[in-house]
Amino acid sequence: MARRRSPRKTGNQTSVVAEERPVVAKRARGKKKQAQPLIAVRHMTRRDIGRVWEFLKLSFRDVNAETVEYQRPRSKHRFEEIFEEEGIEQLLFEVDDAIVAYAECTYEVTGSDNWINPRYFEKRDMRPLFVDELAVHPEWHGKGVGSFALEQLHHLARVHGLNHLVLEVAENNERALEWYKKRAFKKLDAAVFMATSVDTEPELLPPRELAGQREPASTLPGEGSEPDGES
Ligand SMILES: CC(C)(COP(=O)(O)OP(=O)(O)OC[C@H]1O[C@@H](n2cnc3c(N)ncnc32)[C@H](O)[C@@H]1OP(=O)(O)O)[C@@H](O)C(=O)NCCC(=O)NCCS
Repeated sequence: MARRRSPRKTGNQTSVVAEERPVVAKRARGKKKQAQPLIAVRHMTRRDIGRVWEFLKLSFRDVNAETVEYQRPRSKHRFEEIFEEEGIEQLLFEVDDAIVAYAECTYEVTGSDNWINPRYFEKRDMRPLFVDELAVHPEWHGKGVGSFALEQLHHLARVHGLNHLVLEVAENNERALEWYKKRAFKKLDAAVFMATSVDTEPELLPPRELAGQREPASTLPGEGSEPDGES
């Protein structure tokens, strides 16, 4: 009998468990079904900033080792500023109060230093939910946490009448890139960092022997004649 995975909703908590058909009866007599970890999502509060910052540093440590750009806010100060900014959703995913994932998204192009071009999406009838951060604690990779967080983001987009999730992933972040491709993300555009080597040489000139005292010009034959020969 096909086993189907589906989330069971209780309030804003969703537990990722296998739903059994009549087989249940048989198992009830035998082995006690192992309780699955319960993952819950909530909005980040000011009190969480410190813990989440530590979580982000840990979750992106290996990724940042391979990418030209930081894949998370550059500093705790910048992360604190994000919390104050309007229109940014910051979601925490927890299992027994441990932060297992964090997601950050915006419903429109926000911020004065945002390079996103809204007309690109308008022209293609895309109403995006911009996913600015998605990270799962390294110890929880491959357990379905990322998939649940992505499901939450899809849900938020639907609830807000948006029809696409749009995010940026570094090409060098191969695991995430493959993960997104498997989940129907398609490439829209790419900003490629390129480099070429420069023949370097020291900025400062090497020591040089001075040429030695030059004869003062006046002692030269024909003294007193103007350069243009006019006397
Ligand atoms: C990319 C990332 C979010 C994926 O999160 P994750 O929790 O490992 O993802 P999942 O567990 O849902 O899926 C990963 C694999 O686990 C497997 N898996 C195991 N148990 C699973 C379950 N219960 N449900 C779903 N998948 C499960 C899946 O098969 C999946 O493999 P697939 O991609 O080949 O389908 C996570 O690796 C991450 O946070 N990376 C570091 C930060 C980062 O790069 N973020 C993205 C920046 S753009």
